[in-house]
Amino acid sequence: MNRFFLLADRLEKEHRLAPEEYRYLLDHRTAETAEYLAGKARAVRERVYGRDVYIRGLIEISNICKNDCFYCGIRRSNHRCRRYRLTEEEILSCCAEGYALGFRTFVLQGGEDPYFTDAVLCPLIGKIKASCPGCAVTLSLGERSKASYQALRDAGADRYLLRHETADQAHYERLHPAEMSYENRMRCLEDLRAAGYQVGCGFMVGSPGQTPENIVADLKFIEGFAPEMCGIGPFIPHNATPFADFPAGSFRLTLFLLSLLRLIHPGLLLPATTALGTIHPRGRELGILAGANVVMPNLSPVSVRKKYELYNNKLCTGEESAQSLVDLARRMEEIGYRVVTARGDAVKFNEKVEVDQHETL
Ligand code: 5AD
Repeated sequence: MNRFFLLADRLEKEHRLAPEEYRYLLDHRTAETAEYLAGKARAVRERVYGRDVYIRGLIEISNICKNDCFYCGIRRSNHRCRRYRLTEEEILSCCAEGYALGFRTFVLQGGEDPYFTDAVLCPLIGKIKASCPGCAVTLSLGERSKASYQALRDAGADRYLLRHETADQAHYERLHPAEMSYENRMRCLEDLRAAGYQVGCGFMVGSPGQTPENIVADLKFIEGFAPEMCGIGPFIPHNATPFADFPAGSFRLTLFLLSLLRLIHPGLLLPATTALGTIHPRGRELGILAGANVVMPNLSPVSVRKKYELYNNKLCTGEESAQSLVDLARRMEEIGYRVVTARGDAVKFNEKVEVDQHETL
């Protein structure tokens, strides 16, 4: 057990470990070692970001999707899913409502809906930027061409979230139909980087067939790719998918991985995700206490929220945006953190920053 603490201390200093060392940490997760890791993660996060929690307004623009991912409730083969697509006016009105509440980042997330071409999205991005001064626009719209990513970036989009889902090719193939590929997913992440986005990747914890080696591969991938953001959450089964009968991922393992990610990349923007809040009533609070520093409240019109059902019992389908923000702010205050409305760009973290910050403490 002593080795666990030595490895955690080294990870905190050097921000990288060998695969077998990550594996050792995963294999020695106990209540005690997890709390040791979380304590370190909190300290590192506080050094870079203080106790500020950034909020991102999530707008689920469409649940129409041409893909058929085995885990996802809005996959095209789910004929029980009632499909919707927000209009430009509806999206702009969600942004206006969020802006008035203090949101300075809007995340446009959706299935891979062919309607949302560059010709539709570019003017929309321009209108959001013009009507919400100083805001950041984050897109989460799946796999697109390099030219499309560049066009959207040129239109003003700042960030892009595209989870890699798993950094192991064979496991990727277990989660997706043959027409999707691990190679293309990785190509997309590289193209996003080259187009000048702040990029987010991420994976599900406990997705069917996931092994500890797969998780080590995810950690090594994230270590090397060094994304600005990273979204991780437990897999949660959806009853109308091929993975309906698989168990949900582990809540505690997700928290443990949040702590590891914080130590790997101190400046990472790390959300306590909706999935984390769904499998545990205090999931988002415990995510923050494990090292996360972002929450993404839902700004979608209440009328469509239930339809954006990636997994069963998704959190927060009923409340109005304003009410859920008040609720969230209270929850964060209760654990000694505060919701802030800044744009919250990633802090470029390097050894020098670390030294400077130590000196000013
Ligand atoms: N459980 C948990 N997360 C899921 N996602 C999709 N389906 C599920 C599920 N059943 C995640 C994927 C995707 C993101 C938008 O939501 O990681 O990238």
